Amino acid sequence: MIGPEITIAGPRPLRGTVRVPGDKGISHRALLSASLASGRSTIRGLADGDDVQSTRRAIEQLGVRVKASEPSTVAVLGTGASGLREPDAVIDCGNSGTTMRMLTGLLAGRPFLSVLGGDSSLQARPMGRVARPLRALGARVDGRAEGELAPLVIRGGGLTGRRIELDVVSAQVKTAMILAGLQAEGVTEVVEPAPSRDHTERMLEALAAPVTRLDDRTTRVEAGAPTPFEVDVPGDPSSAALFAVAACITPGSSIVVEDVCLNPRRLGFVEALRAMGARVDAEQTSERLGEPVGRLTVEASPLVATTIRPDEGMIDEIPVLAVAAAFADGVTEIRGVAELRVKESDRINTIGQELTQMGVAVETKQDALTIRGGKPRPAMFKSHGDHRIALAAAVAANAMPGESTVRGWRSVAVSYPRFADDLGTLAGGTGS
Ligand code: S3P
Repeated sequence: MIGPEITIAGPRPLRGTVRVPGDKGISHRALLSASLASGRSTIRGLADGDDVQSTRRAIEQLGVRVKASEPSTVAVLGTGASGLREPDAVIDCGNSGTTMRMLTGLLAGRPFLSVLGGDSSLQARPMGRVARPLRALGARVDGRAEGELAPLVIRGGGLTGRRIELDVVSAQVKTAMILAGLQAEGVTEVVEPAPSRDHTERMLEALAAPVTRLDDRTTRVEAGAPTPFEVDVPGDPSSAALFAVAACITPGSSIVVEDVCLNPRRLGFVEALRAMGARVDAEQTSERLGEPVGRLTVEASPLVATTIRPDEGMIDEIPVLAVAAAFADGVTEIRGVAELRVKESDRINTIGQELTQMGVAVETKQDALTIRGGKPRPAMFKSHGDHRIALAAAVAANAMPGESTVRGWRSVAVSYPRFADDLGTLAGGTGS
């Protein structure tokens, strides 16, 4: 059970080894790929948060059978795209933008009506970015505010492949186009303004679907489907980043995060922490469904300010990197992050507010944050209903001398329900 708030008395040095939940993005993609495959797929280590459950319930509403043998192991009895059936109720995507955007792409290929809704945060997030390019393939996608906001109404089928130039850098939108392209007649080429994370391409290539990367911004898709598969989902680097920052800023810490996805497009946070003087090492030990997997080793060290210009390699890690900046000596600039304004909360505002609670001087601009690091003090934090803000606040709380509380803690159910337990285990010194 996740309580409405947690109180942490720091500082608690972290020691030992931890395994974080399976990667959220790979978990969504594995469920969707398994639905498009004809036959039984087994997914072990599925991310256990609410977001991935939203995708699971959605495919079940489309007629795909999913059987759980353990909480994080599921068998998916894929029907192939043509076996999916019209849902008889609105599909609730909860808080999950990934579910809504990717599913819109999958459903754009099906000749029936689907309606996708979500919670109040999701219904305020931009959806025109996925609706417009899917319309260009021939799907009918509509929504509130001229198709910009959910609920989305999709009547798909009869798609014709063509070259589409996307106007945002978004792995979710690219994935939606690839899932639609697999169901379109002819060739679909998706061109991004800049490279986004590439889990979908890696997975579908590994599963022999007709998806080819022409260069780092262009993906070619033909009609076809992935083969059924078995996978152990590697740990989520965005969750690993929480422990990495916690270990860096809490003196006396020394930890290993095992079995983490080491996809280079997810490791921007490692580079940023190294630029701040952190002692972080990444070592690859295996490969799964086209993804490098390995361990991260982190030891506490004094941090210095830096400039962070995130490419797609670290957008979800900015809240916790902002915490690292709050503990670093000097002024850290985080630039070019306007996208933070349309995440689960307006993260430029919510990061700014919560760092201010700790007595840290922060300046916010439309697309930037300037953080003057120093000696943050214990605080009463709020999550603003945003899991990554709650988790980043807990990382800060763990490092500061004294008691801090994070209100709205339940929001962590979205991505990392057992975070407080895993942090507590490392703080107890035994590891898991
Ligand atoms: C995701 C891509 C990113 C990220 C999100 C998950 C994905 O968003 O912020 O949490 O799984 O593809 P974009 O679609 O904006 O790249």
